[in-house]
Amino acid sequence: MGRLKALDKNLNLTNKRIILRVDLNVPMLEGKVSDKSRIKKVIPVIKEFIRKKAKVILISHLGRPKGKIDEKLSLKPIASILENLLNSKVYFSNESCGSAAIEKSNEIKSGEVLLLENIRFNKEEETNEINFAKELAKVGDIYVNEAFSCSHRAHASVCEITKYIDSYAGKLLSEEVNVINMLTNNAKKPVSCIIGGSKISTKIGILSNLVKKMQTIVIVGAMANNFIKHKGHNIGKSLFEKNQEGLLKDIIKKCDTNNCKLIIPEDVIVAKSFESEPKLKSLNKIDKTDIILDIGKISVNKIYNIIDESKTILWNGPAGYFEIEKFSTGSNRIAKKITENTKNKSLTSIAGGGDTVAAINKFGCSDGFTYISTAGGAFLELLEGKILPGIKVLELK
Ligand code: 3PG
Repeated sequence: MGRLKALDKNLNLTNKRIILRVDLNVPMLEGKVSDKSRIKKVIPVIKEFIRKKAKVILISHLGRPKGKIDEKLSLKPIASILENLLNSKVYFSNESCGSAAIEKSNEIKSGEVLLLENIRFNKEEETNEINFAKELAKVGDIYVNEAFSCSHRAHASVCEITKYIDSYAGKLLSEEVNVINMLTNNAKKPVSCIIGGSKISTKIGILSNLVKKMQTIVIVGAMANNFIKHKGHNIGKSLFEKNQEGLLKDIIKKCDTNNCKLIIPEDVIVAKSFESEPKLKSLNKIDKTDIILDIGKISVNKIYNIIDESKTILWNGPAGYFEIEKFSTGSNRIAKKITENTKNKSLTSIAGGGDTVAAINKFGCSDGFTYISTAGGAFLELLEGKILPGIKVLELK
């Protein structure tokens, strides 16, 4: 991958209209934002442009409205959240493209912020339409992409727009790309990863790539149930993905060939339902009415040893059903142990993925990691070794 185009720090931005592509695709619960992490992350960048007396035009999507206006997915409520966090007025435009948006972008004064309506209300956004991108480009003088988490999408506000306006990779985006590239290319060894999630098929790309770069891969979460079953144990009524034997054999073989240790849980926490009492069981004691909902003590200790032996660690996917307290021990202990070693043993720790970040926040460990990515799909695709279209267009020629 080539170097990314960065905005010259000394460039005079006074009165310049900066189109800042951000990711304000935040989780909503009953019309309210339930997690502001993505909004908070971009605040220092917006403040910096305000300080430089630029006019900041924010573009984002929210949800998947499929090219139609959907009031529930309006970005309007986000404007007041931004206003509070920035402590500065944020104007809102109901139009995200066209003459009204251009007019508003010119009207705001230097050092002010304008948030455009959900860009995905226009069907041309997701089809990466040329004329739409040209129109969008007219809203600003300079384009900066700070939405790493959207850069796996070949959409107009991420890709095509860069052809019609002076375009740069933002500071946060570059930092995130560098961290992930470091992880797969020049991380301090031993490098380990703890990978979870409900479906093994969605993680096969990342496992296939990481197996060549890591010394140890630990499988947790519902994905581990497939491996436990493959070893010949009963997994009762636990979640698992059907017809994945081929994938499993392939991973096991790749680990073997690449000298990468593959670790799966040796004991588990089971319950008869989410409401019933948790019970610690070794794998050969799981019965047909059990549901595996967390990893057990022996497994946690094994993961502790792996974390102790590692110089670099990646965590993607909680160890159990952490949203329910009694099944959160495994994830909680992993988060705390990584935090401890990051602080005291100079472990480089990287975490990513929505559920993992939610777990880390829940256990109060958000300051304990070297880097936490709020990206989902883009994080995984870069780890898989894929070329992200929104990054490709920002490479220096
Ligand atoms: C994300 O939440 O991962 C990004 O905002 C991209 O959203 P999308 O998966 O709807 O394209």
